[in-house]
Amino acid sequence: AEPAAGSRALDEVKIGGLGSSRPRVEDARFIRGRGNYVEDVTLPGMLHMEILRSPLAHARIKSIDTSAAWAIPGVKLVLTGEMAAQRNLAWMPTLSYDTQAVLATDKVRFQGQEVACVVAEDPYIAKDACDAIVVEYEALPPIVNPEQAVAPGAPLIRDDKSGQADNIAYQWEVGDKDGTDAAFAKADVVSKLRLHYPRSHPSPIENCGAVADFNNATGKLTVYMTSQAPHIVRAAVALIAELPEHLIRIISPDVGGGFGNKVPVYPGYVCAILCSILTAKPVKWIEDNTGNLSSTGFGRDMYLDSEMALTNDGKILAVRYHATTDQGAFFADAQPTKFKIGLVHSSFACYDVPVGHITAQGMYTNKAPGGVAYRCSFRVTEAMFFQERMIQAAADDLGMDQAEFRRRNLVRDDQFPYRTPFGFLTDSGQYLKCLQIGLDAIGYDDFLVEQAEARKQGRLLGIGISTMTEPLGAGNSREYDILGIKMFDSAELRVHPTGKAVLKIGAQTQGQGHETTFAQIVTHELGIPATDIVVEHGDTDHTPFGMGTYASRSTPVAGAATAMVARKIRAKARKLAAHLLEVSEEDVEWELGRFFVRGAESRGVTIQECAMAAYSNMPDGMEPGLENNAYYDPPNLTWPFACYIATVEVDPETGVWDVLRFVGVDDCGVRINPMIVEGQIMGGLTEAYAMSNMQFQTYDADGNLVGANYMDYLLPTAWETPGFELHEVVTPSPHHPIGAKGVGECAAVGGPAAYVNAVMNALRPTGVRNIDMPLLPDRVWHAAHTGQDVS
Ligand code: CDP
Repeated sequence: AEPAAGSRALDEVKIGGLGSSRPRVEDARFIRGRGNYVEDVTLPGMLHMEILRSPLAHARIKSIDTSAAWAIPGVKLVLTGEMAAQRNLAWMPTLSYDTQAVLATDKVRFQGQEVACVVAEDPYIAKDACDAIVVEYEALPPIVNPEQAVAPGAPLIRDDKSGQADNIAYQWEVGDKDGTDAAFAKADVVSKLRLHYPRSHPSPIENCGAVADFNNATGKLTVYMTSQAPHIVRAAVALIAELPEHLIRIISPDVGGGFGNKVPVYPGYVCAILCSILTAKPVKWIEDNTGNLSSTGFGRDMYLDSEMALTNDGKILAVRYHATTDQGAFFADAQPTKFKIGLVHSSFACYDVPVGHITAQGMYTNKAPGGVAYRCSFRVTEAMFFQERMIQAAADDLGMDQAEFRRRNLVRDDQFPYRTPFGFLTDSGQYLKCLQIGLDAIGYDDFLVEQAEARKQGRLLGIGISTMTEPLGAGNSREYDILGIKMFDSAELRVHPTGKAVLKIGAQTQGQGHETTFAQIVTHELGIPATDIVVEHGDTDHTPFGMGTYASRSTPVAGAATAMVARKIRAKARKLAAHLLEVSEEDVEWELGRFFVRGAESRGVTIQECAMAAYSNMPDGMEPGLENNAYYDPPNLTWPFACYIATVEVDPETGVWDVLRFVGVDDCGVRINPMIVEGQIMGGLTEAYAMSNMQFQTYDADGNLVGANYMDYLLPTAWETPGFELHEVVTPSPHHPIGAKGVGECAAVGGPAAYVNAVMNALRPTGVRNIDMPLLPDRVWHAAHTGQDVS
């Protein structure tokens, strides 16, 4: 039977379009051990590189003796900073317009810093040869926190930089200072809080690594590397190494997790490339766990001093805070050029706050550099954690129920698009509805009764809420660029004669399932079954220029480009359909997968028939073929919303806390693949749980890293991770072509405050206002028994 006119000829979900929880196509190779990671790449004649790292946090290099290393059979090259300097490669630019040492020449500035590297026939010889290098150091006093960095007489860490007389990396401010001061003058209550979001590490399962292959006959450099942004790396290599960009090919094969850690270009990559150029052989470098944990981009390490101006009846009049970041030895944040402290000022976007003012300062310390967006949009995790901790403290200071305080201040549905106090424009949302669904699901009122009863018996039950919207999908080219390159993204679509298609995207999956979901967008636009579409990415010679995958930008930006390129294909297919149906284009109607003649619905042609015609029967004057590309510059960021609620019980005897229940309500607009979205949320809530109660990476007074291995820096397993009860609300993004908003990082961003607020709520009778993360049992015990905050 013919489909009814205007009806969907195909059941979109059945052919794998929007809303289909189709299984992840990439898992077919991952679960069979057929993934292809950098470590799997083996090239003829390939050599192996290992890095010698500094044991000291701060020291002058007096001498480096490499003679014993050169003497070991199988060693092909020992590279020092001095040799790199001869090629102008001892230093490289960072994504924050600072410089970073590739191999130390003058001083070492953090424990684990790259000092030299060895290339040998196998990685074991290279490692032994590293041990044979003798470096004479003159120890200098290390600086291990921002307070020490600005103390009188503090040693200057960045004495390499002309004009740098102190340890301050940057200063920044945003908002309306005078307006904020005026609002504080009128406040009934001023609520204050000091917090630290500790250094945490993205810890992807696959560490960094590369195979650099410089062909001295053709001049072509091919680098296989585990990167979240291969096109940016190509541009960076062209700029840093001054190689011609058209002769550089970056291939990111399967990437075993990134979480922001694999955005920057690290010294190891530059060394591998230089070593391949010098030896004229492919050079493989695979980082070990300690190398990754001690030298690659960390997340967070931000201190907050905050104040909130309130009325007695619970309205927020203004917020102001000062943020201090511990940058480590080099300012290497991965962030848009304009924003020195990322998008910290996206805090309070979901609350109707009239005015605010933020100041920020970054300090150099003798620690590894980083400040990467660990599963978040450029320091948005810190922003939302601080926001939600401040919200709870303010509700407590007012003696007001925390859910009611949120209800009074959340932006209402009729206020969109909403301009935040720091200048963002949020796109859409139903915040109060999400909150209510969450409260109903957890049984909020009943829990409060249970909590009061439990307190009478000396049991400590707590409930914590975290509500937040965050900016995902950086970003429009007016505001967002990295090293001057605007943050658009791209897609190229080729439909073959039989109607099968290849989609090439500028984004780079690291496990998020793009090969599955991006095909679904094409299915939605063209009606080609998702199984007939392959998605390719990660090879700069064969994909359009993209800014990479981080900050949950793939769906908002590359996903939008995918919809737009499919629409270009459909527009051409419509012309082909008119030709095949022998009617004018205006008389051709579209339903999923098929064009038909208006008024004669049974006369139609499928998208596959149009594809064949593009190569075999095109109208006179039409260019053959059915392919196109699209570059998408988003008009705005997308603003998903989340409400996370945790209930916990704290054991007063041990300080151990258990999650009783966890409810999540996410609104990420239209869900492309609901199963993948739920997986993203559960993964994020798991990471949030780990950050809040077990992960700790710190430095002792001598600058030794504590947490340089996975015995000390803990990864959550299924054993301790709580179960999650998930709910959804769908408010489409008004400016995204398919109404989707990003989601990948929401739970990692919003989750930590839910857990911490729950523990603090449990301890409320003790008078404790704050325990800094991670909420380890000894900290919780100490707070519960002394009534003192723990920082
Ligand atoms: O940039 P990244 O892929 O890390 O984050 P994302 O764009 O939020 O997408 C994460 C995964 O969830 C991808 O496979 C998306 O296609 C999928 N997703 C979805 O199915 N529906 C949405 N509204 C948002 C993301």
